[in-house]
Amino acid sequence: MKPSSEDKLRVKELTALIQIHSYRYHVLDEPEIKDSEYDRLFQKLLLLEEKFPELLAISSPTQRVGSKPASGFKKITHGSPMLSLENAFSVKDLKDFDRRVKERLTNTESLDYCCELKLDGVAVNLFYKKGKLDKAATRGDGSVGEDITHNIKTLPSVPLELLKGSNNKGIPNSLEVRGEVFIESSKFESINKTSKESGKKIFANPRNAAAGSLRQLDPKITASRPLKLFIHGYGSADSTDKNIPDNQYEVLQLFQSWGLPVNPETKVVRGIDECINYFLNIEGIRKKLAYEIDGVVYKVNRFNLQKKLGQVARAPRWAIARKFPAETGKTVVNSISFQVGRLGSITPVADLKPVKIGGVTISNASLHNFDEVNRLDVRKGDSVIVKRAGDVIPQITKVDNRNRIKRSSKTKPPKECPSCGSKLARDEGAIALRCLETQSCPAQLLEMIKHFVSRNAMNIEGLGEKILQQLIEKELIKDFAGLYELQERDLIQLEGFAFKSASNLINSIEGSKDTSLQRFIYALGIREVGETTALNLALNYSDVESLMESNREDLIEINDIGPVAADFIIEYFSNENSVDLITKLLSFGFKLSPPKKDTHPIFSGKTVVITGSFSSFSRNRLKEELINKGAKVTSSVSMKTNLLISGEKPGSKLTKASELGISVLTEQELIDLLN
Ligand code: IVH
Repeated sequence: MKPSSEDKLRVKELTALIQIHSYRYHVLDEPEIKDSEYDRLFQKLLLLEEKFPELLAISSPTQRVGSKPASGFKKITHGSPMLSLENAFSVKDLKDFDRRVKERLTNTESLDYCCELKLDGVAVNLFYKKGKLDKAATRGDGSVGEDITHNIKTLPSVPLELLKGSNNKGIPNSLEVRGEVFIESSKFESINKTSKESGKKIFANPRNAAAGSLRQLDPKITASRPLKLFIHGYGSADSTDKNIPDNQYEVLQLFQSWGLPVNPETKVVRGIDECINYFLNIEGIRKKLAYEIDGVVYKVNRFNLQKKLGQVARAPRWAIARKFPAETGKTVVNSISFQVGRLGSITPVADLKPVKIGGVTISNASLHNFDEVNRLDVRKGDSVIVKRAGDVIPQITKVDNRNRIKRSSKTKPPKECPSCGSKLARDEGAIALRCLETQSCPAQLLEMIKHFVSRNAMNIEGLGEKILQQLIEKELIKDFAGLYELQERDLIQLEGFAFKSASNLINSIEGSKDTSLQRFIYALGIREVGETTALNLALNYSDVESLMESNREDLIEINDIGPVAADFIIEYFSNENSVDLITKLLSFGFKLSPPKKDTHPIFSGKTVVITGSFSSFSRNRLKEELINKGAKVTSSVSMKTNLLISGEKPGSKLTKASELGISVLTEQELIDLLN
């Protein structure tokens, strides 16, 4: 049956009604109708769309939970870089900022600042095309992020279609807005409670919970998490820019009128003293807010002034974040235990009587090494002050030994590995103790395999710590090659597995065999071989076999590899066990693609040096890009240097390059060349 013109009109009406009521509820927090009435409208629209699929629009409010993307997360390049913020920790830092801004603008009068809350969430970039949500990305490295469109669509506060505001300011054809996705503190606690009850992963803080929920392949999982969004800026818009006001505050208000959620505490103030008052005010209401903030952000309000001020490295000169001081709490050390790392290093950890600090329950703190234990003289049973700052691992800052138990004894370093019981050794000249039983220590094995399966290595989803622990305990795996010999029947005997989940996991292990050479090298967990070194190795050796035959001299020649890393690589490949392990792994039929050498005539075979800072990319990214283009990137300018890439504040390398007559490229020239 074809829809009548009445049906068409009804679908339009219902869509508009749902959009407006959803906006009133999720963005303005001023619902006008009862939830039951809203549900009724929604059901009506669903029914009509089911009956007449041709009337179903992509941006219909019924389309929030779609299907999983076909393959992982695609990459999205932001229209303009997503910058970070400089931090201020005191009134003096803020006054210095204001003075610097005024000096640059040769301005003596007080400036208008847009004051905003600094949400502790996950930065996202949303792209609207002709008013409809087109795609969404995470921040990534600031230039390129991950495509999370399918997940962002599930957030009720994200408009799938912008509302035409009443102020006649047209919505640009293309618009890029930036914001922060977060979870309210109380919702975070209930997620963790449910997760704990069902034996699932617990998130350390609301920020991790938001990030984890957003980075899900299955949008149904994201939809089940109470994620919210506040927009705090805009990336770019097309030529209809003239419709956009000339200042930050009014832009945010305009966005709000289009249905985008903007934080209600946003304000414009004049002069730095009022900025300081804003901070004091927010500090006062912080505890009453439903979500966590880690400070406030001040932005020079007018865009023309922002443009004049520009940016340094990856932070604008026109904005600053004033951070709250780290929060502290008092608790008791239940015991001091020792963790064994992937490469055998032993880290002392204080197991604490759980204490709530800034909304997060803290039950342990890293003591880093024995120098730190001695410096603090921390002992079992001591009362301690614990500091928690944002994402950082909690620290013990002070031991209150006034009530120390009389017979408490000094914490001594362990003599034996807490996992395998073997004697511990100390690296030459180092403080850290190390367990040398690389092959047979269960803790090292667990950490090694955790690294092997991790996201940036073999990226095997569904192999969490608890499962790996069981696989090792039941001796179902003895090394990471063992993962590829697992069968459904092995997994079904483990806690929490059914046939379907076992077969899914086997498939994802199988799927990991098709990967890049650099991920495989990184996954091996060779000492001193991080992701960049793994990439450099992959660029220089076309397969694992030739890497295994490398010699020290050749390795040192490679960019980024020094004598220490070269020695560890040689040591690793001279070890019979490693060779056996790799041979076994390769026998499973891995397809390891070498990095694409996207060589460029200007860079191929050239020795290039980078100096200064860049606004469109990080130095690491630039380095990778240059290596990809066939260059050898070295750290100092010499007669061998062919080219210097010079960013802001270049320093002595630029002087030396001009003395030696070496060609210099600026950031803009480089971008033009690459484009
Ligand atoms: S503006 C122009 N405003 O903080 C600079 N960022 O440290 C770009 N953040 O990655 C950021 N609340 O995710 C801005 N009101 C706010 C913010 C905010 C939280 C996050 C943002 C950014 C990080 C920078």
